[in-house]
Amino acid sequence: MKSIHNFLVALVVVGSALATPVAARAESDAATLELGQQVYGVYCAGCHGVDGDGNGPGAEMLIVKPRDFTSGIFKFRSTPNGTLPTDADLLRIVTHGINRTAMPNFRLVPEVERKAVVAYLKTFFPAWEQKGAGEPIHLPAEPDFLLTSDSIARGAQLYDMLDCGRCHGAGGEGDGPSAKTLVPDSWGNPQVPFNFTMGALKGGGAPVDVYRTFMTGLNGTAMPSYADVFAYPDGEAIHEGDAWHLVSFILSLRNQGEDSAR
Ligand code: HEC
Ligand code: HEC
Repeated sequence: MKSIHNFLVALVVVGSALATPVAARAESDAATLELGQQVYGVYCAGCHGVDGDGNGPGAEMLIVKPRDFTSGIFKFRSTPNGTLPTDADLLRIVTHGINRTAMPNFRLVPEVERKAVVAYLKTFFPAWEQKGAGEPIHLPAEPDFLLTSDSIARGAQLYDMLDCGRCHGAGGEGDGPSAKTLVPDSWGNPQVPFNFTMGALKGGGAPVDVYRTFMTGLNGTAMPSYADVFAYPDGEAIHEGDAWHLVSFILSLRNQGEDSAR
């Protein structure tokens, strides 16, 4: 009898030891989402809408509309084309904002609140839990040759070869032949290829930001992913390091004075 009693006590102890972390996690998840909802209501709903559909009262006046989070489509990601962004991607955008759009930066909001609002905004796209984020692409360290004249020259060749000018224009001014014929983006808004010669890059102005943009593409827009082109250097046309040469060329087009600080 004693031993059965001990056995039962042991079971209860094991049971609660197993249950506690799960319960604690659920509790902290719920607390995070509650905090996220509050933060969202204060800072985000005015543009992105209480329901996350991008239709907040502030949206009407904006040309570049706030993201509709229910679409599950995100432009700025470290993950492959067509996949969902990581929490780190979302946190980066929430922290730094998006240049040239109404999307503000929230640097001064405590990180715990920024993380909570990221967790909360994902709930507007219920399939998120099941699908999960894409696997981030490998972002190599910046090479020494970046922005050297040889690198810029090779980048210019690649820019022609890959026909970036079709949209961005031969001189990078966003006025390529296809620019005027682009259909509206996935959210029904007009889209404009970026003019590389002026203004801050939306996704950030650091070399690695440019690299990430053309490797992953901007979902929902005409801006494609070139990961396949650079993943299979065919020896003849594409060489090792070419992706960085393209970065050199793009950055060389920029007016230094207007360059983004980040
Ligand atoms: C003043 C309006 C405004 C406010 C306030 C605002 N946003 Fe935005 N947000 C935008 C706009 C506009 C865009 C779309 C930019 C684009 O499509 O290039 C955007 C885009 C985003 C994106 C990028 C989606 C993508 O496609 O990669 C995220 C994430 C985001 N907002 C989160 C938030 C969060 C979280 C808050 C509150 C903490 C917030 N925003 C507050 C206007 C706003
Ligand atoms: C079919 C048209 C099209 C082609 C081809 C194209 N782009 Fe784009 N690109 C766009 C559009 C549209 C945007 C703006 C999307 C936005 O702001 O939402 C863009 C934006 C960008 C951005 C800026 C994103 C930012 O942070 O503001 C970079 C960098 C870029 N493209 C690089 C390239 C490179 C390099 C090539 C060629 C290898 C290329 N693009 C080819 C349409 C195109």
